[in-house]
Amino acid sequence: MTDTKAIERSRTVAVVGTGTMGQGIAQVALVAGHPVRLYDAGPGRAQQAAAAITARLDRLAEKGRLTAEERDAAAGRLHVAETLGDLADAALVIEAIVEQLAVKQELFAELEKTVADDCLLATNTSSLSVTAIAGALRVPGRFVGLHFFNPAPLLPLVEVVSGFATDETAATRAYATAKEWGKTPVRCADTPGFIVNRIARPFYAEALRLYEERAADPATIDAVLRECGGFRMGPFELTDLIGQDVNEAVTRSVWEAFHQDAKFTPSLAQRRLVESGRLGRKTGQGWYAYGEDAERPAVPTEAPAPAPAAVTVHGHLGHAEPLVAMIEQAGITVRRRKRGNYLTLPSGGHLTLADGEAVFEYEGEEIIYFDLAHDYRTATRIALATAPTTSAETLQEAVGLFQALGKDVTVIGDVPGMIVARTVAMLVDLAVDAVERGVASAEDIDTAMRLGVNYPAGPLEWGALLGYEYVADVLRALHERYPTGRYAPCLGVARKDHEERAAMKDQDSR
Ligand SMILES: NC(=O)c1ccc[n+]([C@@H]2O[C@H](COP(=O)([O-])OP(=O)(O)OC[C@H]3O[C@@H](n4cnc5c(N)ncnc54)[C@H](O)[C@@H]3O)[C@@H](O)[C@H]2O)c1
Repeated sequence: MTDTKAIERSRTVAVVGTGTMGQGIAQVALVAGHPVRLYDAGPGRAQQAAAAITARLDRLAEKGRLTAEERDAAAGRLHVAETLGDLADAALVIEAIVEQLAVKQELFAELEKTVADDCLLATNTSSLSVTAIAGALRVPGRFVGLHFFNPAPLLPLVEVVSGFATDETAATRAYATAKEWGKTPVRCADTPGFIVNRIARPFYAEALRLYEERAADPATIDAVLRECGGFRMGPFELTDLIGQDVNEAVTRSVWEAFHQDAKFTPSLAQRRLVESGRLGRKTGQGWYAYGEDAERPAVPTEAPAPAPAAVTVHGHLGHAEPLVAMIEQAGITVRRRKRGNYLTLPSGGHLTLADGEAVFEYEGEEIIYFDLAHDYRTATRIALATAPTTSAETLQEAVGLFQALGKDVTVIGDVPGMIVARTVAMLVDLAVDAVERGVASAEDIDTAMRLGVNYPAGPLEWGALLGYEYVADVLRALHERYPTGRYAPCLGVARKDHEERAAMKDQDSR
């Protein structure tokens, strides 16, 4: 197989397994112009799928997204295959059957007896190894993972997964085909969770741990990640939507596949939820209730407090530096001092960007931590962490300061790394590690996380924005406080931190 171009539109695409994903993928191939054959082992299921796809084409035509001619032509290209033998003329077969290794292996062994040797074979598996599925094939080089996301016609991301035996030409051809179909493909190696399901784990896991550590309730953690972190949805509301059982199953499968690496440890709280059948929206109850008159719990927000007249900024606030201009714009006097990375309030209390440590450790000092924001200008909420010894006066000044910048203020428990800083540091760590291990390029990882899970920035983009010195400091501080290995910065983060510091020294000495 030497052709690396997309599969021509005139060539047949076969879809095996015509449930949720198979139907969506078939629709994409059909609208892109291919003849499509549907095969399913369940009696009548391929017929039903064909009817469902045709109905969806009708709706697209009603909405004006397809002309009546395009709809008719697409429907005319859709065929149901009675046996696997009917797929003989396919140039590409995409499998979307039940998620069981032995069943998939058996299917592909049968398919190989039917299709031509240059037919590209693809699996839509989300959790099995592409290498393992291809293990029994006669021509494993033409086998590739094509991981679409649900709903396939709407979501642009496709992970193109190369197993150990996959020929580069097969991966390039699959990539070019997905692109030709209007998708945004990314390339990745065959490792547990591929890109999105691997790197997104801390988004859920850190929130669950923060809840277990009683830092805040789910509504508060969701609100801080949304309104301060810039995420489209919080992890509790998102897992309620995905289904707690589905989300936990992905976590467990990635954790098991990594031989129970502490970086991926599942959550006890989520286990209890799944065991009790509180699976989220689909059962009417998950972290939140979904009945007709169910109300979301209110997020504790501080009452209005007077703004301090003046603050002193010591050194540079790092990623939080834009706050200084905002404070001045709010009419608050800013004095500057040379050294440090914090801000002092009139009471003498310090305001410091979350750095992975806990407030209580600063005995005798008045410290308040504030959480990391994706963008302090657009964030609408700021979380603060205090110790029991923090005076009411200092807290009121800190609250008044952020309120003067137009932010809602929420006080959370004193846990190392707060909410956003801890979550983002872990996302960056897993992403850098994946690049170092050749799972995918930095660019593809950022694309996958923006498109696959709607992150406001790719994790590597985030790493560059925050600086690796900051990321490494947060992780090292967390690692010291939770010495399980979970937070130990990966080698890549340590290296980038080292390089950044060396470059800074170099600059200083010039
Ligand atoms: N649902 C998702 O969100 C999602 C997202 C990405 C990937 N995936 C993956 O896509 C695949 C399919 O998932 P789904 O949600 O569409 O499942 P589904 O249960 O909706 O559909 C599976 C279909 O495969 C058929 N089938 C089962 N065994 C078969 C066999 N041996 N030969 C032919 N047909 C067979 C079933 O009759 C059924 O129609 C799985 O590998 C899953 O991991 C699912």
